[in-house]
Amino acid sequence: MQSSLRSVDNSLGAMTDAEFVDFQRLVKEMTGISLSDRKRAMLTNRLAKRMAFLNLNNYQDYLYFIKAEGHSERNEFINAVTTNLTYFYREPHHFEYFGQHVLPILSKQNIRNKPIRVWSAGCSYGQEPYSLAIEVCNSEIESEVRILCTDIDSKTISSVKKGAYPEKYMRGLSDELIKKWFVQKTDGTWQAAPRLRQLLIGKRLNLFDKPWPIKPAVDVIMCRNTLIYFTEPDQAAVIRGFAEHQEPGAYLFLGHSENIKEVEKFYKRVGNTIFERI
Ligand SMILES: C[S@@+](CC[C@H](N)C(=O)[O-])C[C@H]1O[C@@H](n2cnc3c(N)ncnc32)[C@H](O)[C@@H]1O
Repeated sequence: MQSSLRSVDNSLGAMTDAEFVDFQRLVKEMTGISLSDRKRAMLTNRLAKRMAFLNLNNYQDYLYFIKAEGHSERNEFINAVTTNLTYFYREPHHFEYFGQHVLPILSKQNIRNKPIRVWSAGCSYGQEPYSLAIEVCNSEIESEVRILCTDIDSKTISSVKKGAYPEKYMRGLSDELIKKWFVQKTDGTWQAAPRLRQLLIGKRLNLFDKPWPIKPAVDVIMCRNTLIYFTEPDQAAVIRGFAEHQEPGAYLFLGHSENIKEVEKFYKRVGNTIFERI
């Protein structure tokens, strides 16, 4: 098999209905992501790049690859089908609430002086957890804070660990915050300060691979714009998992369009898409 990169092969024919259904099923099985019929063009585009790389020009061959248990292409396939849109301080009221209410409250309650545990679940390239880290470092709390960053997409986790962003991915940060917390490297990327980076731990994790290797009593879970890709029963299952990992008084932040009924069973609303475990 030729593995050199070449341009996208125009001879790649249209995806048949049966092939699309097969891909939909595989994506759902491997990631929980429910691809609607409207996503066929998006899927075709994303797979075309992988298939060109592998020098394949028919979907059946590609399906054969990813169905093979343990084949390294399974990981690449997952990375190709995830949508990773993110930016710093996306939904800024969440970070304001985290910095001004959550951190001081948790720090005050922390009589046993244990690290405050934050989990950014579906962290994408890391702009979300780095925004949380900036809030931690800008706060005056004395408690130690650890931010676990997880995502199903392995390339995003490498980015979290590097903490270096090209200019176009600095969206959402003011010049003042960039100056305070990033240094521009000779290649033009912006490197996050060691003080931010040392708060973050990056791990690949599929929210549907349970049990999660995460100890309970997570003080803050931020899972935004990730559950939206799942079916209602799958969203409910993830919410139940979060609830099992949190104690009363802990916080959950969801994305602006994630109205999930299951949340009400375990949390009370304390702000706009901000919840407290009951
Ligand atoms: C649109 S991004 C949201 C990033 C960030 N939370 C934000 O709001 O800016 C959604 C992320 O969820 C991740 N994701 C999708 N399915 C997942 C799963 N089953 N387990 C863990 N992460 C998943 C994707 O890889 C992607 O990086």
